[in-house]
Amino acid sequence: MPPSDEKLQSWVQDIAFERTGPLRRLVKGAVVNPAANWLPAALLRWLLRVTKSELAAANWADPGGWRSMVVSYEGRPRQIADKVLVGGGTMAMALRNRKRLVSRILARLIEDASARPAHVLCLGAGPGCNIIEAMCEARADSIATLVDLSGEAFEYGRRLASERGLDGRVRFVQGDVRAVRGLLDRPPDIAKLVGICEYLADAQIGEVAGALAAVMPPGAPVVANSLSRAHGTDRFFRRVFGLHMAHRGVAELEKLLAPAGFAQFRSCAEPLGVYHVLVGRRQ
Ligand SMILES: C[S@@+](CC[C@H](N)C(=O)[O-])C[C@H]1O[C@@H](n2cnc3c(N)ncnc32)[C@H](O)[C@@H]1O
Repeated sequence: MPPSDEKLQSWVQDIAFERTGPLRRLVKGAVVNPAANWLPAALLRWLLRVTKSELAAANWADPGGWRSMVVSYEGRPRQIADKVLVGGGTMAMALRNRKRLVSRILARLIEDASARPAHVLCLGAGPGCNIIEAMCEARADSIATLVDLSGEAFEYGRRLASERGLDGRVRFVQGDVRAVRGLLDRPPDIAKLVGICEYLADAQIGEVAGALAAVMPPGAPVVANSLSRAHGTDRFFRRVFGLHMAHRGVAELEKLLAPAGFAQFRSCAEPLGVYHVLVGRRQ
């Protein structure tokens, strides 16, 4: 079952989020974001190339791929451009906040599940940074199945799982999330659809939700995320990184997941207002 609003808030209330003060917001809104959005894209790309930005290189190789997530999650950039983009960029801070929210919520859902070990299915999981954190935090036994198209993400994920003491508890399945039905050896108790919907068209979300609903037992919770334009740099991401994200609010996402049989959504926001994390239920 998904948690009540009060329970969800109590789960996340003590998370140490990254925030921006009023002065920094003013400088970003008046100077940094307009410059990023409106300076010539060729100039910005050149600057990022000569300063050897890891975040830019990851996006150019695979726009919005798992590697750019990892660069943002790690948050310890060496290059000067990444100190601005990853260290202080609203999007990267919001991503790290989302990871904190998602992993905390998954940890509590694992503890709430009646099955032991609780089985978490992660679609478009990348290397599994969120679920690996959650499994380490949860005070109950869990296993996870990660489905992703990228074999490279799994090489990184296997190392990460092993470093965190999760050998044998994380199964990496390379494949298309829409074919998840044929990829599982046990139904999931919890499902996660995070960091993927913003790269899909409405019809594709419907397909993924349908495939997911077909493998989930009634009552099982699903965790997903919305994306707002509060980061203020969509034009920069499109022109400079080639990253075309679909911005959808909580209600829009709920509407896309509902026809497959997901309902009773609760949500909470990270403090920069870029992401909401939703918890719904398979009816
Ligand atoms: C932006 S990354 C997010 C990774 C992870 N969920 C996170 O939030 O850190 C999106 C991931 O979705 C995967 N992906 C996109 N479409 C997919 C599909 N149809 N089937 C499986 N994986 C897919 C990509 O390979 C990529 O690893």
